[in-house]
Amino acid sequence: MSYTRIIGSGSAVPDNVVTNAMMEAIVETSDEWIQSRTGIVERRISTDQNTSDLAYLAAKRAMEAAAVDAKSIDLLIVATVTPDMPFPGVSQLLQRKLNMHPITAFDVNAACSGFIYAINVADAMIRSGSYRRALVIGAETLTKITDFTDRNTCVLFGDAAGAVVIEPSDTPGIERVITRSKGDHEGLLTLEGYPLKQGFKTPQKPWPFLQMQGSEVFKFATRAMPEIINDLLSQSSYTMDDIALVVAHQANRRIIESSGKKLRIPEDKLFMNIEHYGNTSAASVPLAIDEAIRSNRLKKGDLFLTVAFGAGLTWGGALIRL
Ligand code: UT7
Repeated sequence: MSYTRIIGSGSAVPDNVVTNAMMEAIVETSDEWIQSRTGIVERRISTDQNTSDLAYLAAKRAMEAAAVDAKSIDLLIVATVTPDMPFPGVSQLLQRKLNMHPITAFDVNAACSGFIYAINVADAMIRSGSYRRALVIGAETLTKITDFTDRNTCVLFGDAAGAVVIEPSDTPGIERVITRSKGDHEGLLTLEGYPLKQGFKTPQKPWPFLQMQGSEVFKFATRAMPEIINDLLSQSSYTMDDIALVVAHQANRRIIESSGKKLRIPEDKLFMNIEHYGNTSAASVPLAIDEAIRSNRLKKGDLFLTVAFGAGLTWGGALIRL
């Protein structure tokens, strides 16, 4: 065994649809602004399902598609920046919900690139020979850390989960993964954490919300996405002609289109579902992969590229044959 491959995928989103017209009633914005600047038409906002609940549904669907049982999984990795609670991790909460054996289970925090990081780790751990089957998930309830008085951010995000099952393979599946990170000292995209104790007093803090310098992150993303695609292709024997689909992190339609233009990628090779879900952070890539598979945009044997970027700063991508 020298390779790993994806043998099934699944995803889940909350039922609650929030349209741009509904956002117009919350902050000073317009459907026209949101659609033209981002491509988002609606998003899902959870009121009763936490990250582990969405992860559970996505995991069940992925295992069903792969025709495997939860008891056969020996590695569980959940990429998230919005866990139900700081600890236990979503992976352990999920392990209990799925009634799994005592196995290796942990969370990964690499923001919107988290799923690519998790795939990188799972691929390496399986190829080491120590693990036989991994469940890899990206799951978020980002709207609970979103400030619904801040129009710069609140129109952008949504809640979702996506999952894949990965196992050893004699033929190439996950062919190459790249993950990169660069400390964000400028605070381009952050969520405030716990303050240090001052004289052992417990400070009364408001609920923390994510903060983003949107246009700076936009500039970073439009550099990072072509860089990763170029590197994935140049480190392989493939060209864009061999790629069936580019499944990018759905943060902004303009970021995907601009990268597509720079690299002369035909429009029909750029997968897009941002209009329905907005930016779902670590869930965005596995949700998109699952939708691409279920809508037949990706078929068995197809080679596809996936790429993501986000807080950290982190970025990365993978070249995968289904
Ligand atoms: O998941 C990974 C991390 N996130 C991203 O990748 C997001 C990257 N950034 C972006 O997608 C874009 O920068 C945004 C969609 C966030 C913003 O688009 P932009 O074209 O960069 O707009 P801007 O921030 O430069 O703002 C332009 C104007 C401003 O008004 P003034 O100062 O020109 O009068 C904003 O106040 O648009 C205003 N604005 C809005 N207007 C209506 C900002 N948000 C809104 C809004 N509705 N929701």
